[in-house]
Amino acid sequence: MKLKSFVVLLSLAAIITATAPTFAAGGGELEHANVNVRDTAAAQRGAQLFVNYCMACHGASYMRYGRLAADLDLSEDTVMKNLVFGDAKIGDTMKTAMQPDDAVKWLGKVPPDLSVIARSRGVDWLYTYMTTFYQDASGGWNNKVLPNASMPHVMWQLQGIQKPVYVTDEAGIETVDELVLHRAGLETPEEYEETVRDLVTFLAYLSEPAQLQRKSIGIWVLLFLAFFTMIAYLLKVEYWRDVH
Ligand code: HEC
Repeated sequence: MKLKSFVVLLSLAAIITATAPTFAAGGGELEHANVNVRDTAAAQRGAQLFVNYCMACHGASYMRYGRLAADLDLSEDTVMKNLVFGDAKIGDTMKTAMQPDDAVKWLGKVPPDLSVIARSRGVDWLYTYMTTFYQDASGGWNNKVLPNASMPHVMWQLQGIQKPVYVTDEAGIETVDELVLHRAGLETPEEYEETVRDLVTFLAYLSEPAQLQRKSIGIWVLLFLAFFTMIAYLLKVEYWRDVH
């Protein structure tokens, strides 16, 4: 490949990677989730939050409880005791008990499966979504990154209740500028941020369970390549000795 086309290709790749999260975000400012998917303790806490607060409505139907146990260093016993409700078995997928018909009746919409939500929305979007629920003038829940979401703020007892401060632009359009804590929750704002980080860590793991293995295999592949390069070099020196 010519140098020029290589440079063009490289800058194209840079542009695509730089703008990718913006596409997923759909505008608006996002908080940084700062999740580390290899933090198994955080993912374990996140799994507990997920079954307690989300699975009444959302499933993660690509994930089996048994796989969860293996990946997150939990015994099958612990998983059965703490994470499995109802009559589900260790080999079952994480299905929600909510029936689609009931969901439409109660919420107006079927809550989406969250198996790969971290890949479609990105972790920063999820983190911002779970931290920016607020109570609007009607007294109902609203959300800064998903306006008029039909999902209630399910962790409001932990976070407390936020109220919006609006700004009006030149065109007279009102938007939410910032959210202020109106009524304290069981957790401090810092603790709640950690809670959401744990939850998003779990969702990030969920969206690509193989990444844990893939990343550790990657290190060995790179080490092997470095080692092999050295051998190849030594071999080359050896072969060329006779030629010179
Ligand atoms: C009472 C039922 C209910 C519970 C419990 C619930 N959700 Fe939702 N959720 C919904 C509904 C309904 C929607 C669809 C919202 C919309 O599009 O207006 C939704 C949407 C979402 C979305 C946005 C999906 C998208 O891309 O548009 C995410 C992310 C989400 N929920 C995460 C969670 C998490 C994480 C929890 C647990 C902490 C949770 N939900 C608990 C009902 C629920």
